[in-house]
Amino acid sequence: MIDPLPPSEYRSRRQQLLAQLAPCSAVLLPAAALRYRNRDAEYAFRQNSDFLYLSGFDEADALMLLLKNALEEVESILFVLSRDPAQEVWTGYRAGPEGAVEQFGFDRAFTLEQQAEQIPTLLADCERIYYPFSEQQGMATAIRGWCQQLQTQGRSSEAAPQQLANIEPLLHEMRLIKSSTEQQQMRRAGQICVQAHRLAMQNCRPGMFEYQLEADIRHSFAQQGCRFEAYGTIVGSGANGCVLHYTQNRDAMRDGDLVLIDAGCEQNGYAGDITRTFPVNGRFSADQKALYQCVLDAQQAAIAAITPGACFDEPHRAALEVLVTGLVELGLLDGEVEALIQDEAYKPFYMHRTSHWLGLDVHDVGDYRRKGESRLLLPGMVLTIEPGLYIAPDNEQVEARWRGIGIRIEDDVLVTEQGCEVLTQDAPKQVTDIEALMAQALAEQGGGVHD
Ligand code: GLY
Ligand code: MN
Ligand code: MN
Repeated sequence: MIDPLPPSEYRSRRQQLLAQLAPCSAVLLPAAALRYRNRDAEYAFRQNSDFLYLSGFDEADALMLLLKNALEEVESILFVLSRDPAQEVWTGYRAGPEGAVEQFGFDRAFTLEQQAEQIPTLLADCERIYYPFSEQQGMATAIRGWCQQLQTQGRSSEAAPQQLANIEPLLHEMRLIKSSTEQQQMRRAGQICVQAHRLAMQNCRPGMFEYQLEADIRHSFAQQGCRFEAYGTIVGSGANGCVLHYTQNRDAMRDGDLVLIDAGCEQNGYAGDITRTFPVNGRFSADQKALYQCVLDAQQAAIAAITPGACFDEPHRAALEVLVTGLVELGLLDGEVEALIQDEAYKPFYMHRTSHWLGLDVHDVGDYRRKGESRLLLPGMVLTIEPGLYIAPDNEQVEARWRGIGIRIEDDVLVTEQGCEVLTQDAPKQVTDIEALMAQALAEQGGGVHD
């Protein structure tokens, strides 16, 4: 659900992108298409994030054309579904070309049917056309067609498009640094996620199904204004917590197990991505607590490593140091910490990285490396910190008491001028805080809202 920002925000993003291009350049960017789940039933529409970032326009099938001419004059043009009252009765209202100009601040707009006639003419003086190479929507074929049309009609000037280039590196570098408006959206996403995870902790009871806890999370998102999740909610109890992207959420949760919830709302297009792991019955066992504390210490060490100028890999290294030290202390690994890290001996228990960028996409765009080196963190970047330990239920190399425990703790962190701001700070993660919140809920609600 998109509540567009003021048109000036998108216009300045388009201008910032065009400012980086040479004169006689064009950018073509397609909107997402509607997808079908099964006969006549559509998946919920989600706009392409690049398109959303530059327009705020939330309709399917549109096409954006940005132009910079030889005099460095710029123009933003949108091709959109035409107004069609008979069709709109079925599928909803459309902005149409007038709305694209009036509500979204485009200089000009046309209907999709006008593409074939307008685009070759508009591209006639462009030397270079940028488009997103990773889009699988036939953009390259369409562009070739328009260029051929220009040539066969003898309308191309000497400068007619000679080069195709990928817009993604420039655009994704912009998306990587969040403006203060974007930071506000992501701060709000963080707060909404915090409330949802707190509610799940308060409502969890042995015997409930994982999908019922998922429903609590989604209900809380919706009550706070977010209809959609940023990704499929993961509620994995017991050994299901060892499946990194477990989304079946179908089992009953057992007394004595932990439950791992990885769930984030989509707030005005921006993703929250937060994981908490807690005991189904509200009390950690000694073994669960030992392993949990190791992950929590690793997470806090990783967050402490976030500061402008540190490299992206630094939090991961900090987390690994603590995790591997803990695994040795608990008897799950044997050897020297440095050697175990070097040999990746921890991989059976920790097989993913500690961070990814976060923004309009949950695994957001932006390079992680520059010239082969981990890149430096800059104010405005947002990344997750999400170490975990997963002891497979069939791992016979470890004592039986550890098997089937899966733990991940994930927060969203904004890099600031001074250091960092944890956007999801208020979701309890200390053992004592989780136990206190759950005990209080039990005392207040007796059997809980589901009984
Ligand atoms: N929820 C997906 C992830 O944490 O990366
Ligand atoms: Mn996550
Ligand atoms: Mn994540």
